[in-house]
Amino acid sequence: MEELNVTPWEVSGRLDEAAYSKLVQRFGASLIDDKILEKIKSYTKDLHPYLKNRLFYAHRNLDSLLDGYKKNEKFYLYTGRGPSGKMHIGHLIPFRFTKWLQDKFDVHLLIQITDDEKFMVKEKLTKEEVERIKEDNIISILSLGFKPEKTHVIADYQSAKTLYYYATDVAKKVTVSTIKAVFGVNDSDNIGKLFFPSIQIVPAFLLSALSGERYNCLIPYAIDQDPYFRVARDVLPKLGFEKPASIMSKFIPALRGQTTKMSSSDEMTGIFLDDDEKTVKRKLMKYAFSGGRDTLEEQKKYGANIEVDFAFNSFMTLEDDADKIDKIREEYSRGEITSGEMKEIAADTINRVLEQIRKNREKVKDDLDKFMFDEEKLRDQLKRENKG
Ligand code: TRP
Repeated sequence: MEELNVTPWEVSGRLDEAAYSKLVQRFGASLIDDKILEKIKSYTKDLHPYLKNRLFYAHRNLDSLLDGYKKNEKFYLYTGRGPSGKMHIGHLIPFRFTKWLQDKFDVHLLIQITDDEKFMVKEKLTKEEVERIKEDNIISILSLGFKPEKTHVIADYQSAKTLYYYATDVAKKVTVSTIKAVFGVNDSDNIGKLFFPSIQIVPAFLLSALSGERYNCLIPYAIDQDPYFRVARDVLPKLGFEKPASIMSKFIPALRGQTTKMSSSDEMTGIFLDDDEKTVKRKLMKYAFSGGRDTLEEQKKYGANIEVDFAFNSFMTLEDDADKIDKIREEYSRGEITSGEMKEIAADTINRVLEQIRKNREKVKDDLDKFMFDEEKLRDQLKRENKG
C-alpha cells in the first residue's frame, strides 16, 4: 500500500478515516469532541455543519483560546490560499468556515495569498501565471462575503516588505534540520523551500507585532498545512508571542474516488468554481465516485457508504442547512435515496452556490483595494480600536 504522506507540498496515500486519525496522532493534535463543541456553541449559539459533521475534526489549543476570549483576551483569524490554479469546491471549505467564525466572533481576519510559495514550489509555474491566478483566486475568496473593514488580504509579493521584515525573526530561530524533518525537504530541493515557511508563519503573530498588543490567533486550515503551524508553535513563544491555535479540516474526496483529494492542476479531479451548470451535472453523472451499491436492491438493503461518496460530500460541503444535511445523510445511508438521486441533489446545491459566487465575483472585482493589506492603515486601525 502507498505510504501516507501529508505535507503542504505533497499529499499521497489513501485518505480514509483511519488515515485521518493517524495524522492527528502523528501531529500531536486533539480531536474535536463533544466537549469542545459545547464550548464553541456557548459562544456561537449554533454549530456550523462542518463541525457537526466533523469535516473540521482536529484542533490545537482551541479550548484555551476560547477561555481567553471569555476573559476578554483579543483574538483574530488567519487563513490562506496558495494560488496554483483555479479553485475547486473543496478549496472553499476553510474560507466558508472562516467566514462563519468571523460572523460569530466579529474579529479581524488575515488571508494570506502565497504567490511566492507557489512560484518556488511548482516547477512549471511562471510569475505571470501565478499573478493571474492570484487575482482570480482573491476575487473568488472575497465573493464569499467577508467583513470589509476587518478583512485583510496579504499577498506575499505585494506585501513583501512587511512579511520579510518579520520573517527574519522567525528564520533566525528555525534550523535547517527542523524544516527537513517537518516538511520532508531534502538536499536536492531548492532553497526557497527552506526559507518560505518563515513567511507563512508571520501572519500568525502579525497583529500583535503591528499593534504591540497581545492578540491570540486562530488558524483554520486543511490538515496538510499543519507543518507550518507546528513550527510556529515552537518559534512564537521564543519571540514573545502566543502560540497560535488551530482548527483543522479533512479534504473532501476527489471526483473519481476517495484515495486522493481534488487538485487544482487536474481538471477531472473535481468541480471548479467556473464550471457551468451543465458541466457540473455531467461531471457528477458521468464521473462522480459513488458510495452507492451496485444494484437498487442492495442499495435499499445496505444503504450507501457515505464516506467515499463524492456527491454526498460535495453536497455537504456547500449546503448551509444543517437539518437538510442530516436528513439526506440518514436517507441516503439507509438506502432510501438512490445514488442517481443523490447526484441530482448535489448538482442542485452546487449550482446554486456557484451561481451566487459568479454573481458576487462581479461585485467584488472592482473593490479589491479595500481588502488588500496596508501596514500603515492597519496599524492605525488597531491603535484606534485598542484605545476605545
Ligand atoms: N500554503 C497555503 C496553500 O498552499 C496557503 C496558506 C498561507 C495558508 N497561509 C495559510 C493556508 C494559513 C491555511 C492557513 O494553500
